[in-house]
Amino acid sequence: MDVGAGSGWPGLYFAKETGCDAVLVDLPLSELRAARERAAHDRISDRSRVAVADGSRLPFRDGSFDAVSHSEVLCCLEDKRGVLEACRRVIRDDGRMVFIVIWITPGLSRSDHKRALQAAPSFGETETDYPTLLKQTGWTVTDWLDVSAGYGSWNGSAKEGLLRRDIFVATPTLGLDPSIADSIEPKAAKLAENDNRGWVCRFRTERYNRPV
Ligand SMILES: C[S@@+](CC[C@H](N)C(=O)[O-])C[C@H]1O[C@@H](n2cnc3c(N)ncnc32)[C@H](O)[C@@H]1O
Repeated sequence: MDVGAGSGWPGLYFAKETGCDAVLVDLPLSELRAARERAAHDRISDRSRVAVADGSRLPFRDGSFDAVSHSEVLCCLEDKRGVLEACRRVIRDDGRMVFIVIWITPGLSRSDHKRALQAAPSFGETETDYPTLLKQTGWTVTDWLDVSAGYGSWNGSAKEGLLRRDIFVATPTLGLDPSIADSIEPKAAKLAENDNRGWVCRFRTERYNRPV
């Protein structure tokens, strides 16, 4: 399931590349229509479905999905906690969720924070940081990549360190909550050195934000 799939990124990409079935969820019907056209064009209509639904009120049974994705969706809506809880409900216990999100770099000075707010997507600010929010909504983070560097040319505010863009991979938490932050921070710092990840954005923009 890809929440906030818009015109099909990344759900249709996964379906095409891996052969999986994909359910694309979003609110505007116009975007989902474009996704359906793309699916037909890519000959994967038989493996892709669309559903008009709010990401925090998913109309699916508990444990329906093997995997969940969302790309730059949590930064575009207020109820981030509601979406993460809904995704947790509909994923299988052995499932995996991956998402990319833009957020305001923690610990900025007051003036930088003001500038960051202006540059950020409409709901780029989050009261609770994502690792904590994930933990509170029943997820265990297994990978966390800071991909801000790869987007330096896309947005000056990322280059200035005002905004960051991260990819999180998480699995449902079963039993005791392990303490995750200490073990993943060094890995995130190492991966942040690699600024070669802009392809995620470029590929999406070139192919999925354009009509077929
Ligand atoms: C920045 S776009 C990203 C679209 C696509 N995932 C991509 O990466 O190209 C954010 C998407 O989130 C969707 N969205 C916003 N609020 C939502 C909600 N409450 N439930 C489901 N989708 C929502 C928007 O309609 C939009 O398609």
